[in-house]
Amino acid sequence: MATDTGSSLSVVKFGTIVSLTVVLLAFWYRSPVQDTLDERLDTVLSSLLRAESKVGIDNIRRPRVAIGFGGCVDIIVDGVALLNKVGIQPSSTPLHYNFIENVEQLSRSFSYFFPPGAASERFVVNETLFSELVEASRELPGNRWAVGGNAAVMATRLANEGSEVLLGGSFSPEFTDVLPPHITVAGKTLEEPDIHLILEYPSGAKWGQYTSRRANRYIIHSDNHNPLLDSMEDFEEQLQTFGPDLLVLGGLQMMDNFPFQKGEREARLERLQRLMESANLGTGVHFEMASFVDKGLLEELLDRVLPYADSLGMNEQELPNLLSLMKGGNVTVLSDPNPRVATVLDQMRELYRLVNAQHSRQGRGRALTRLHVHTLAFQAIIVTKGSSWKNTMSATAKASLTANRHVCGSPDINPSKAKLIMDDSFSISRKEGSQRMPFQETKPVSCWDEADYEICVAPVLVCTEVYQTAGGGDNISAAGLVLQI
Ligand SMILES: *[C@@H]1O[C@H](CO)[C@@H](O)[C@H](O)[C@H]1NC(C)=O
Ligand SMILES: *[C@@H]1O[C@H](CO)[C@@H](O)[C@H](O)[C@H]1NC(C)=O
Ligand SMILES: *[C@@H]1O[C@H](CO)[C@@H](O)[C@H](O)[C@H]1NC(C)=O
Repeated sequence: MATDTGSSLSVVKFGTIVSLTVVLLAFWYRSPVQDTLDERLDTVLSSLLRAESKVGIDNIRRPRVAIGFGGCVDIIVDGVALLNKVGIQPSSTPLHYNFIENVEQLSRSFSYFFPPGAASERFVVNETLFSELVEASRELPGNRWAVGGNAAVMATRLANEGSEVLLGGSFSPEFTDVLPPHITVAGKTLEEPDIHLILEYPSGAKWGQYTSRRANRYIIHSDNHNPLLDSMEDFEEQLQTFGPDLLVLGGLQMMDNFPFQKGEREARLERLQRLMESANLGTGVHFEMASFVDKGLLEELLDRVLPYADSLGMNEQELPNLLSLMKGGNVTVLSDPNPRVATVLDQMRELYRLVNAQHSRQGRGRALTRLHVHTLAFQAIIVTKGSSWKNTMSATAKASLTANRHVCGSPDINPSKAKLIMDDSFSISRKEGSQRMPFQETKPVSCWDEADYEICVAPVLVCTEVYQTAGGGDNISAAGLVLQI
């Protein structure tokens, strides 16, 4: 015993010395790097917070924002857990479908978007399949319910940021009850809310042979109200008296691949065009893009909606998609989910130029004076010099902070749950010999002038403990807008 104790004591001592040495060595080698990283994150965070708070929102004269259309109840689940529960296997032949008819298509479609981690949203025409998936989701541990739909999410964010909001949408009384104060709903009353199923997955999630490269979500729905924009008439009726400073349109992707009656979609969009045209010139008009794959619908949007908006918001998938179509190409279903700053800025410049060239050629609608692109790693906003959009630098900072707040699910940003994935400097264009912008921790939002516009770019403190990605773009876009009106 005694010797045992003695030897184990010396083992303990020896062990202590070894581990102490290991700790010291680790400290010696790794810690300075780690410390600098942490310090860097802290500095970026405090600088972004300072940039955000430079502009106050007038809580007395709350900015007035009218938002259409729709909303739904999201049921949020772990995507892989749900597929496993209902026995849907990964497919060795991934493929993209415009809409989903059966289990096999769902498997192939999810297998297509999950590995790159690209956001997508699809209409499920098979209602049996959809309700089976919703039932299974209800029973899945860890599921959550949330207010969903672009317009409703943006409305919530804007109201929480101090705006007075008119929301166009047909909802159930329970849904309207959970909306925050300062939102007035214009639309029909439904008995049952529309449900959308959000299959979330973190970065590095595994599904059979597939691993996701980044956190994202795959959304499915079988929604019968939102595609018809059935609150438009009620919304229009209240719009004049509401007198908005800003009109926001989103949620139109609900029309994507929906089985409309002949001429029905065209009629709805024609009506929407008239609504947008009738907006006061002093009212800014923002259109939020989304995951569209129906080329016919997108072409109609290019003709009837885009020309009447002076501000556009979109993510890194939606930007190349829109651009490709504007250049006479096809829809792009999947693009690089982690594009470089230079690539995105070039695409933004091109879109800005094409939309404005079309505006001068056609002589109708509004010039594009604001373009906000949100990506995982950074936020970028272009604003025309001399336009009515204010505070671009602070708005870019706020958009960036909102990205972390939303994805981490907390208004307080914890730097230990964040990382920067932007490099120390970035090139402002892919053109050879382009200027490089250094990334300064104490001044993380870079803004500069070009042609007739200003560009601001801010890094995102990318959340490493993902709570939710769905609704991110809407929260981010709304947060950017609120400081610019
Ligand atoms: C719809 O989904 C159900 C349940 O998965 C399936 O049994 C049925 O065959 C599907 N219908 C069609 C037309 O694919
Ligand atoms: C355009 O996309 C559609 C659907 O994704 C596809 O069927 C068609 O072949 C594509 N056309 C071209 C020219 O790539
Ligand atoms: C984004 O919107 C959703 C729905 O309104 C909300 O639950 C979530 O908390 C919002 N995120 C942030 C950062 O406010």
